[in-house]
Amino acid sequence: MTEKTAKWIFWGGTSVSLLLFLALTVDTHRQFAALTHADKLSDQVVSGKRAFEKHNCNDCHTVLGFGAYYAPDLTRAYTRLGEASIQRRLESPEIAFVDSYRKMPHQKLSEQEVKDIVAYLAWISQIENQDWPPQHSEKRWKRSTARMLAAARVSPGAAVIEQEQCLACHNLGATGGNQAIRFEWIAKRRDSRWIADFLEDPEKHAPGCGMPAYPHLSLAQRESVGEFIAALSAPSGR
Ligand code: HEC
Ligand code: HEC
Repeated sequence: MTEKTAKWIFWGGTSVSLLLFLALTVDTHRQFAALTHADKLSDQVVSGKRAFEKHNCNDCHTVLGFGAYYAPDLTRAYTRLGEASIQRRLESPEIAFVDSYRKMPHQKLSEQEVKDIVAYLAWISQIENQDWPPQHSEKRWKRSTARMLAAARVSPGAAVIEQEQCLACHNLGATGGNQAIRFEWIAKRRDSRWIADFLEDPEKHAPGCGMPAYPHLSLAQRESVGEFIAALSAPSGR
C-alpha cells in the first residue's frame, strides 16, 4: 500500500463515519418529542425533576444511565414499584429499607415534592428507550415469569397467591395491581425464609407499610409462597 492509499482510506473512512454519526444524531433529535412523550411533560413532572436535582438524588442513583452507581437505577422504578411503594420509600426510607445493608437517607421531602417526584419517575418510565436498562425490562420479567409459571403450574405457593389475591396490590408478569412492589423485584432482594416470616406479621418488619398480615396461613403455606416468590428468576443486576 502506498502512503497515498493509506491517507485515502483514513480520510475516506473518517468522513463517512462522521457523516453517518451526524445523520443519526440529527435523526434521533428529530424523534425526541415522540420518544419521550413530550406532550405529557406537565408542570408537575418538571417540578419533580427540579426536586430530584435539588435533593441530589443523582449522587446515589442513576436515571437513564446518568448519576452515581451506589443505588438502583430509577429509569423503570415506577413500573417495578408502583406509585404507593415509591411514595413510601421517599416518605420513610428508614422504614422501607429497615433491613437493607445499603442505606437511603431521609430526604425530608415535602408532601408536594414526593408527589412531583413520583410524577417525574412515572414520566421517565414511559420514555421509549429500546427497553433500557435491560435488567429492569418488563418484557424480560414477563418472559421469565411465564417460564416459571409453566414449570410450576401446580406450585402450592402460586395457589396460595391466587387464593389470597395478593395480585390485587402486587404485580407479577403481566398481571396485578400497582399498589405495591412487583413480585419479581422482591425476588431480587429477599429469600424464602424472610418472605415466610414477613407474611405472618408485616408490621414487625416494616411498621406502617400497609401490607395486610396473613397469620391464618400455615407455616408450610407461607414457606411455599416464600419459595415461589424467591425463585422468580428476575434478571440479575442492580
Ligand atoms: C445517599 C444515597 C442516596 C440518596 C441521596 C438517595 N437515595 Fe434513593 N436509595 C438509596 C439506596 C441505597 C437505595 C436502595 C436501598 C435498598 O433497596 O437496599 C435507594 C432506593 C430508592 C428507591 C427504590 C428503588 C428500587 O427500585 O427499589 C427509590 C424510588 C429512591 N431511592 C428514590 C430516591 C429519590 C427520589 C432521591 C432524592 C430525593 C433519593 N432516592 C436519594 C440511596 C440514596
Ligand atoms: C392490600 C394490598 C396488599 C395485598 C393484598 C398484599 N400485599 Fe404485600 N405488600 C403490600 C404493601 C403496601 C407492601 C409494602 C410495599 C413496599 O415495599 O413499598 C407489601 C410488601 C410485601 C412484601 C415485602 C416486600 C419487600 O421486599 O419489602 C412481600 C414479600 C409481600 N408484600 C408479599 C405479599 C403476598 C405473598 C401477598 C398475598 C398473600 C400480599 N403481599 C398481599 C400490599 C399488599
